[in-house]
Amino acid sequence: MDIADLIIDDRERGIFRVHRSSMTSPELFRRERETIFDRCWIYVGHESEVDNPGDYRCRTVTGRPLLLARGQDGEVRVFLNSCPHRGAMICRRPEGHARVLRCFYHGWTFNTDGALIGVPGEDAYGPGFDRSEMSLREPPRVDSYRGLYFVSFNPQVEDLVTYLAGARDYLDLVLDQAEEGMRVVSGSNRYTIKANWKLLAENSVDSYHLLPTHRTYVDYVTGLGTDDSGDTMAARPPGVGRALGNGHCVGENVARNGRPIAHWHPLFGEEAKAPIERARRRLAGRFGEERARRMADTSRNLLIYPNLLILDFVAITIRYIEPLAPGTMDVTAWHLVPREESGARLATRLDSYLTFFGPGGFATPDDVEALESCQLGFRASGNEWSDVSRGMLNPAPGTTDELQIRGFWRQWHANMQGRRQANVQDADPGKPETPAVPGTTVLAGER
Ligand code: FES
Ligand code: FE
Repeated sequence: MDIADLIIDDRERGIFRVHRSSMTSPELFRRERETIFDRCWIYVGHESEVDNPGDYRCRTVTGRPLLLARGQDGEVRVFLNSCPHRGAMICRRPEGHARVLRCFYHGWTFNTDGALIGVPGEDAYGPGFDRSEMSLREPPRVDSYRGLYFVSFNPQVEDLVTYLAGARDYLDLVLDQAEEGMRVVSGSNRYTIKANWKLLAENSVDSYHLLPTHRTYVDYVTGLGTDDSGDTMAARPPGVGRALGNGHCVGENVARNGRPIAHWHPLFGEEAKAPIERARRRLAGRFGEERARRMADTSRNLLIYPNLLILDFVAITIRYIEPLAPGTMDVTAWHLVPREESGARLATRLDSYLTFFGPGGFATPDDVEALESCQLGFRASGNEWSDVSRGMLNPAPGTTDELQIRGFWRQWHANMQGRRQANVQDADPGKPETPAVPGTTVLAGER
């Protein structure tokens, strides 16, 4: 099948369909490597994971072993985790702290700035051997945005801020909640899902599935739940879905019980009210009333194209998707918290995170089940189409519509055809764009 035909995007009739071979074909999977993962900015890690000189973290990023390390000079760097001598992985533990990095194979040593500082039996090399040419290699491009480090294997990639497009403002809404910066809590959840990576990208910004799939959680938290007829839409969260350019997208929902500290969770009882109110007032002082309300009273599920999620919902999760095969992905999730938070508040936040996103939480096992079920269902026929048309003619798409998912797919389709950018919006160019995110008025009515 021609790649141009993998998506039906009929803006007039409001029909959007994705051919399911996009999720099953080994050939298309290989092409994604070339046209997407080797061309975009891809997330590696957060600076707080290597807080001290000598700290390092091993990461596999779209199949490549990389090293995130802080040198003795205080700089954070990303290296290829492969010895310049004959290729062995320099670091084989997932994380650690070292003054020097020593390759176990022949014993070459490097400092944490990447320079080669020791070669056993160096006198056997000729005069042309130059240590400075044997430093640890870095990916063609490395850049960071407010502590989030990305790499690109495309030397021509645009700068990171340009690439982030409309996602940057949403990242700011998340990161500005901290007064002393954010840090990643030590430890992570890692799991494998037997499904195509794009199914989790879709799922992470999809509110349509929230009530049917996570009904037990919603009943537990809000008491809203479903009525006996099974109509889940009566209790759907008000919010908006947006395509943010370059394939990034967001589902932004009203969070009923106040954020950023309370989140949407009964664990936060009466005693939390006063500190929450104080935090809200501080946010208003720093950012103004309007923006503070948006930060505190909406949650956001943000996809940074192609494979990074910042889920600012219940707690703040960094979710990284590593595609392994057409029907398999690895997922790693970290918990991002304000540096100033500690004690009972931090414990409650962590508990809230585990309750929803944890391995035995309300959400993750349900989502894994749903995605694996889709992947199994695709076996029924290789020629079927998945429908992503929901809300396509809606002039004000909500999060239970699928505009944000279409934005992702349009960018994917453009990249797969060798184009850098797509028109990610539902409306024709020239027609008005997606309406604004719910603001003060809507939120005030909801509370
Ligand atoms: Fe690393 Fe030889 S491969 S020292
Ligand atoms: Fe879910």
